[in-house]
Amino acid sequence: MSDILYKLSNITQSYSGKIVLELDSFTIPKGAIIGLAGHNGSGKSTLMRILAFLESPSSGEIIFDDKKIETLETSLRREVTLLTQEPYLLKRTVAGNVAYGLELRGAKNIDNKVRESLNLVGLEPDSFMPRQWFELSGGEAQRVALAARLALNPKVLLLDEPTASLDRESTLLIHDAAVKVREKCGTTLVIVSHDYLWLDDVSDTIFTFAQGHLEY
Ligand SMILES: Nc1ncnc2c1ncn2[C@@H]1O[C@H](COP(=O)(O)OP(=O)(O)OP(=O)(O)O)[C@@H](O)[C@H]1O
Ligand SMILES: [Mg+2]
Repeated sequence: MSDILYKLSNITQSYSGKIVLELDSFTIPKGAIIGLAGHNGSGKSTLMRILAFLESPSSGEIIFDDKKIETLETSLRREVTLLTQEPYLLKRTVAGNVAYGLELRGAKNIDNKVRESLNLVGLEPDSFMPRQWFELSGGEAQRVALAARLALNPKVLLLDEPTASLDRESTLLIHDAAVKVREKCGTTLVIVSHDYLWLDDVSDTIFTFAQGHLEY
């Protein structure tokens, strides 16, 4: 077993013939918290979708946990969870949203896990669990979406701008939640943010993108 979780080689991604991402070599160690920075359109979300196995690159090779991704089992893919820039809630209560993935996986003690995850993102369980998806502010909805992912103890958690609509206090909570989930479950995290200071604080290493390339 190596210490490397992702190994990407000679990756390119093109849309309509235009290359938007070009990575010669990019590795992510197990249990790392990796920050991705860079201007709008520099390829960060594209890389996140590739890391989440939601799209295949136009060319190149991805090794995940010592396996070529062509041979990955569906169960392994399920260990990678992406929180997108516009998180989406199910038309259910907050409790229903956070419990959903746990129910699918046949988890035990769902109520406790839901409460624990809401506490991690700073939402008081008793007051938030019964609320409907439309009874939330933007920042609260974003944190419910994050809680739903934290509840699954994922092997990999990919967070695309998790603090974009959050106030200072909530961004500090997200910092702590990221560090805690790594401590507790050994989760590897990749986090995109335009808040460079916050990102620098939470990450072991930051990679900066410019026009689809890594800047050194
Ligand atoms: N599905 C798509 N079809 C065509 N072009 C796309 C698609 N997705 C992204 N792009 C283009 O690829 C480039 C990289 O986009 P990407 O979303 O990865 O940037 P980003 O770094 O996440 O930017 P932001 O900070 O604004 O979120 C942009 O030029 C974008 O217009
Ligand atoms: Mg993006």
